[in-house]
Amino acid sequence: MKLFLDTANIEEIKKVNEMGLLNGVTTNPTIIAKQLTNTKSEDLFKETKKILKEICSISEVPVLAEPISQECENIVEESIELSEISSQIVAKIPLTQEGLKAVKILKERNIKTALTLIFSLKQALIAAISGVEYICPFVGRLDDIGEKGIELIYNIVKVYKVYNFKTKIIVASVRNIEHIINSAIYGADAVTVPYKLIDELINHPLTQKGIEKFLEDWSKLSNR
Ligand code: G3P
Repeated sequence: MKLFLDTANIEEIKKVNEMGLLNGVTTNPTIIAKQLTNTKSEDLFKETKKILKEICSISEVPVLAEPISQECENIVEESIELSEISSQIVAKIPLTQEGLKAVKILKERNIKTALTLIFSLKQALIAAISGVEYICPFVGRLDDIGEKGIELIYNIVKVYKVYNFKTKIIVASVRNIEHIINSAIYGADAVTVPYKLIDELINHPLTQKGIEKFLEDWSKLSNR
């Protein structure tokens, strides 16, 4: 399973990359907006592209970037502009009729695409039929409305296997370690993780305790 980072914060991306854990980066307008709070409205797209360019320069991994437009023609235009930043860019598009039309056109132009805001098996099925490279099913937001988001991942993996669909599943809206562990158990291709969960993924109290014991025993020996 691959680890994507769900952030546009350069420092966070660098830290994860330095540990050799960065397999990709996902962004969306909310994530980008957090980095642009002091940007003038006329500079927003220019600054977005700057951030994406910097992210792409950190490591040669896929970087998912979302156009703002919702009509096919404009989605395509924006996605092409984003894809000109780097061949790493994947145009991440909400699953709508306009979005599907855009994916078809972008595929014909060899621009990589992801369909996002997937909340059901029927949507995941439609997305795979469209031949999109990635889907982003949102588990946390399903939990928010009282559903078990992770069950969707189990079902998508199962159905994709039956039909040998090539579309890759990036589990999104990941809120806790359980989401990550269960995504791995069910066989999702990737999870996209907020930076705040990275520490929790690495640490275990017994690891720290073990280090302390090793050091204590070693210092006893060297202080004889
Ligand atoms: O990966 C999608 C993510 O950015 C949305 O997460 O927590 O706002 O549902 P959340």
